[in-house]
Parts: sequence; structure tokens; C-alpha cells
Amino acid sequence: MVAVSQRLVIHQMASPQDDGSFAEDVRAGLTAAPKTLKPKYFYDALGSLLFEAICHLPEYYLTRAETEIFEQRAAEIVAQLPSPITVVELGSGSSVKTRLLIEAILARQSELCYQPIDISETILEQSAKQLLEDYPGLRITAHAADYTRGVGSIAREDGEKILALFLGSNIGNYTPDEARELLRQIRGALRPGDGLLLGADLKKSRGALEPAYDDALGVTAAFNLNLLSRINRELDADFDIRRFKHRAVFNDERSRVEMHLVSLTRQQVNIRGLEIVVEFQEGETIHTENSYKYDLEMLAALAERTGFKPAPGWLDSNARFSCNFWLAI
Ligand code: AVJ
Repeated sequence: MVAVSQRLVIHQMASPQDDGSFAEDVRAGLTAAPKTLKPKYFYDALGSLLFEAICHLPEYYLTRAETEIFEQRAAEIVAQLPSPITVVELGSGSSVKTRLLIEAILARQSELCYQPIDISETILEQSAKQLLEDYPGLRITAHAADYTRGVGSIAREDGEKILALFLGSNIGNYTPDEARELLRQIRGALRPGDGLLLGADLKKSRGALEPAYDDALGVTAAFNLNLLSRINRELDADFDIRRFKHRAVFNDERSRVEMHLVSLTRQQVNIRGLEIVVEFQEGETIHTENSYKYDLEMLAALAERTGFKPAPGWLDSNARFSCNFWLAI
């Protein structure tokens, strides 16, 4: 067996930590009205671990639903493309669900090149090493980058089809316009005959959606508040985390769950690294995330507008989550 280290390459694109964009995005977001912060900044080392914990919560059904689909349909899903396949994944995280697809592919071809792209380098490295130990036929070329930079560097060998994975309803973080733009970009990195597997959470009742983003244990609250502690650490700020609270609400009109951080008092926060002081009114919020919820018509329309041929997707047994294979045309 070829040693793990010889089957692994990790490319670091200028990460948001080094290139100053975190600082500039925080400045722009906290001096805007209403205040906002971008969800990609949740995923520092602790934030990535908190997200893994969220995936185990009883209220957060998304991961379990998508895993159930893969457990039952992995062979059928990967059979949508002829072998040999190379797999690219946007926002791979721990790659736990992806294992089911990797196994189904390795049942058809003896070797596979897996190309995960993730903003968190620590998670990329850990999960890549684990995967390589478990699958001797696997090679990994990883990119620590945000998606838009990562898709520019996809590799393929002669005769290979690309299967691009965009799982876990990561698409939900994008507004409809941004989602179209990103999918066109992904399509631009593919050729006709390649495929995209898109996991999208489905629109459902407020009563089912809100607890998924406001769990009883407070893990999602910690995930959201951790963004303030990251700003304290990286930008030398003095947020008093206890004077903010997590809020998740379903915005039915826009078909999205919104997460906010609510200021419990009127207060000032000094962000020394940016040389600014930010004022909060009591009850004022920082909008930190949108998680858009789709229906099957919206998904078909999105495929058609971005250069893909839509096809009926697979649903979990409770019809809460959809997994969609789109052929690049
Ligand atoms: C990783 C973006 C799909 O929106 O459901 C989980 C992130 N935020 N709980 C989602 C998240 C709060 C998650 N995505």
C-alpha cells in the first residue's frame, strides 16, 4: 500500500485569515445598517467542531436525512456517471457522508482521486488523513480555500468524468441570485457530461425548521456566538459574549431560516484591530446566516438556469431533504 503522505496534497489558497478579508468583512458588516457578518467565518477550529456537534443534534435532521439517502442510494447515485470518475467536493468538512459515495465509487473502480475544497484547513487535513488510511485506492488533492477560488483548480485525467458534490444544503447560505451565480461558476469548471450532486433542504413548517436552528442544548447558540469570540481573538475586540443572545427565525416570505445575534443591552464594543468602536442598541441584531429552504420546482428551475439538466431527486423517508443529480449540458 502506498503511504498516506504520498497520496495527499493540500494546497492552501490565500486563506481569509491571512489575506485581511476577515478584518475588512467584519468592518464592513458591523458598520452597516442592519449589521451583518458572513457565515463562512463560523468555521474556525472551534466553530468547525461545533458544527460537527450540530450534525449530531436530534433537532438538526439535515445531516441524518442526507446520510439516509446515501446509505440507501449511493450505488444508484454514482451510477449516474460512467467510470472513471473523479470527485470534487465543495465544503467537504469532515467528509463523513462522502465516505458512502467514495465506497460506492471504489466498488466500481479501483482508484479514485478525491478533491475536497474547504475553508477550514484543520478539518481538511484531519479528514483527509483518516480517509487515506481507510481507503488504499484513494488519492486526495485538497484545497483550503473558499468555494469560488477552489473550483478554479479542479483537476481531471484523460477520460475521467467529474462528479461535483455540493452537499448538506450548503447552497442554503446563498441568496437566490448568489446561488445562481455560484452554480454557473461550478458549471463553468465542468464539461458537458460531468455531474453535480446537490443536497438541498426542503421548505417545511416553522415548527420543524426553527428548532433545527435553535436546539435545546444551545449548541447552535454557541456556534453562532463563537463568531464574536473569534472577532475578540483575531481582531483584539472586547465583545462581552454574555450580553448577546442567539436567535433563529423562519422568514416564510423569503423561504429562509435567519440566524441573528441579539444585543441584550445598549452597549459599545471596541474592536482595536480595526480601530473602530461599534454601538449596539438594546435588541439590535447582527444577522449572521441565512439558510434558504427549497422546493422541487425551485430546484428544477435553478438547474435549468445554470446549465444543468435537472432530474427527479432522491428524498429521505420523511421527505425532509433532497439530493439532486444534475447533468452538465
Ligand atoms: C452548513 C450552511 C448547511 O445552514 O443548515 C447549521 C449551517 N447553521 N446550524 C445550515 C448551520 C446553523 C448549515 N449549513
